[in-house]
Amino acid sequence: MMKRWNIHLGKRLWKSFLSMNGEVQFSGNRASISSMQVISREDKYGAHNYHPLPVALCKGKGIFVWDVEGKQYYDFLSAYSAVNQGHCHPKIVEALTSQADKLTLTSRAFYSDALGEYEEYATKLFGYTKLLPMNTGVEAGETACKLARKWGYMKKNIPEYEAKIYFAEGNFWGRTMSAISTSNDPSSFKGFGPFMPGLCTVPYNDLQTLETALQDPHVCAFMVEPIQGEAGVVVPSEGYLRGVRELCTKYNVLWIADEVQTGLSRTGKLLAVDHECVKPDILLLGKALSGGLYPVSAVLANDDIMLCIKPGEHGSTYGGNPLGCKVALAALRVLIEENLAENAQKLGNKFREELRKCLPQSIVPIIRGKGLLNAIVIDSEHDAWDICIKLKENGLLAKPTHGDIIRFAPPLVITEEHLNKCIEIIVNTILNLK
Ligand SMILES: Cc1ncc(COP(=O)(O)O)c(C=O)c1O
Repeated sequence: MMKRWNIHLGKRLWKSFLSMNGEVQFSGNRASISSMQVISREDKYGAHNYHPLPVALCKGKGIFVWDVEGKQYYDFLSAYSAVNQGHCHPKIVEALTSQADKLTLTSRAFYSDALGEYEEYATKLFGYTKLLPMNTGVEAGETACKLARKWGYMKKNIPEYEAKIYFAEGNFWGRTMSAISTSNDPSSFKGFGPFMPGLCTVPYNDLQTLETALQDPHVCAFMVEPIQGEAGVVVPSEGYLRGVRELCTKYNVLWIADEVQTGLSRTGKLLAVDHECVKPDILLLGKALSGGLYPVSAVLANDDIMLCIKPGEHGSTYGGNPLGCKVALAALRVLIEENLAENAQKLGNKFREELRKCLPQSIVPIIRGKGLLNAIVIDSEHDAWDICIKLKENGLLAKPTHGDIIRFAPPLVITEEHLNKCIEIIVNTILNLK
C-alpha cells in the first residue's frame, strides 16, 4: 500500500505539476506567486524529504488556512497536532511579538527572567517537580532516553553501558538516529544503519510480552505513545496504560509517555494518560506546547530522576530561550482558559458518531480515535491520497498515512457548527467516489 501511494504521488501528481511549470518568474510582487510556482520552486531548491499535498498556503487563522490564490480550507491536520489552539492565536502571537522586542535568546550560559516563570507554571500544571526545556519533539525523546540511561546507571545499578530501553512497535517519535533505530517502518530506517544499540521493541498493546521484557534487570525504561499517532491513530485497549504503569512500577523501570502528539488537550483530556488516571515517570511534550508558533518541547520528571543529569551533561543553545518560554506559557494558558480539552472530548464524540452513521463500511471499514485525534481506514479499492485530493478540492485539508489511513485532527477551537460543515464535506466526498 505504501509503495502504491508513492508511485501515485511521484508519477501522476508530482511530476505533472513540475512539467507544467519550469522556472519560477517573479514580477516583483511575491504575493502574486501561484500554487504551481510555489510547488515548483520548492521542488527545485529543497531536499525531497517530504511529499506534501499539492496546496500552497500563505495564511492561517483559527481553524482555517488559505492558499496563495486565496482559497479557504478547513485545516484537518493542525500541523500534526501542533496547532491545537488554532492558527495564529492572538494571545500566543501577542506573547511572541512582545517578547521578540525585549529578549529572544540568552543561551543557558545565563539566567533569563522567562524560563523559571514558565517552568513553575508547567511543573505545577502537570504535577512534576522539574522541567527540562528542548526545542523539537524528537529532542524531548532523545533527552528522555539519556535521562533514563543515566538513572539506570545511578539508581538501578545497571552495569555501565548495558542499559536497555524498550519501545512499542509502530512507534514514531521523529527522525534522529535513535528514533529511527526503534522504528519498524522501513521508510524510516532503511538505508540509515548502523543503528543505536540498547534500544529494543515489544508489540504495542501487549502487556504480557511487555512483562517478560521488563524482567530483564538491564531495562531502564519503556517509552510509549498513549495513542500511536503516526501509526494511524491506533488506540490501545482500555486498561493498557494502567497495565504499563503497574508493570513499570513492579520491575523498577521508568515509564516514558510520549505525549508530543496526544498531549495538550488533543484527545479530550489535558494528557491522554489522564483517560486512565495514571502518571508516567517521564512526560514528553512538544508540538502544541507552542501552539504552532515556534519549536518548543519539554521533558517533565521528578527530582529523583531529573537530577541524575548534572550541569554540562545535556542541553541545547535554544532550549529554554525566553521567546519560546513566553510562547509556551501563553499556549498552555489558552488550552486551560478556553476549555479546549472539553471541546475536543465533546466534538470528537460527535465526529466519530456522525461518520459511523453516514459513511459506508464498504469504503471506510474503520473509524477510530479519541477526542479530536481521529482516523479513518480506507478499503483497498480506494486510494487515501486521491480522497485527500478530493477533500482539498472541497475545501478541507487532511493527509494520508501508511497509504490507506486518513487522519482527522482539526484545531481544538473548532465549533460545532464548523464541525458539522466539515462532516458534510467528508461524507459527501466519500459518497461521491467513483
Ligand atoms: C508522538 C511523537 N513524538 C515525537 C515526534 C517528533 O516531533 P518533532 O517532529 O517536533 O521532532 C512526533 C512527530 O510527529 C510524534 O508524533
